[in-house]
Amino acid sequence: MSLRTYKGISPTLAEAVYIDESAVVMGDIEIGKDSSIWPLVAARGDVNKIRIGARSNIQDGSVLHVSRPTSKNPQGSPLIIGDEVTVGHKVMLHGCQLGNKILVGMGAIVMDEAIVEDNVIIGAGSLVPPGKRLASGYLYVGSPVKQARPLTEAELKFLPQSAENYVVLKDDYLAEA
Ligand SMILES: CC(C)(COP(=O)(O)OP(=O)(O)OC[C@H]1O[C@@H](n2cnc3c(N)ncnc32)[C@H](O)[C@@H]1OP(=O)(O)O)[C@@H](O)C(=O)NCCC(=O)NCCS
Repeated sequence: MSLRTYKGISPTLAEAVYIDESAVVMGDIEIGKDSSIWPLVAARGDVNKIRIGARSNIQDGSVLHVSRPTSKNPQGSPLIIGDEVTVGHKVMLHGCQLGNKILVGMGAIVMDEAIVEDNVIIGAGSLVPPGKRLASGYLYVGSPVKQARPLTEAELKFLPQSAENYVVLKDDYLAEA
């Protein structure tokens, strides 16, 4: 796998993390237990940090990056992803904060300083603008996103199930490695 060091800082992986060999994971990145990074993901923790919690999955072709500190924003914009988060194929996450039990639909873009609370689904192809806050328990769709409706009981149950599916899948891949 391609784990790269930047300015002396290398990614830190907890137990049973799976990273596909075609992914590039670089710099100040911590990844929690049982999380997985799928083919062609680029995660670059250079001008700020990236943190990914436990049992989360970052699917194929997604791009994860951050923004550097500025005089207006002295902390810059790190990228923080919680536990049991499913990031679909070809998602762009940039300097934003995601809570727990979230599904980011395929091809979505989440921009700097956006905050996604726990138990949210972001529809495929949606755009979450800078600084926007998505409230817990809702589906958001569109570009820019709008609150569409409350999540159903089935969708709320599916969020941790989706994470579990990917934990099982990555264990298969780890067993073959
Ligand atoms: C949004 C989503 C959850 C469907 O929600 P839903 O309430 O069941 O929506 P429906 O399919 O009944 O469609 C309702 C309306 O929303 C529209 N719609 C559906 N998905 C949409 C999306 N991603 N963005 C914008 N509009 C969407 C439909 O066209 C329909 O519009 P209409 O009422 O004008 O005809 C689903 O389409 C989606 O985007 N899921 C993400 C899946 C994914 O990417 N998973 C990760 C890969 S593993």
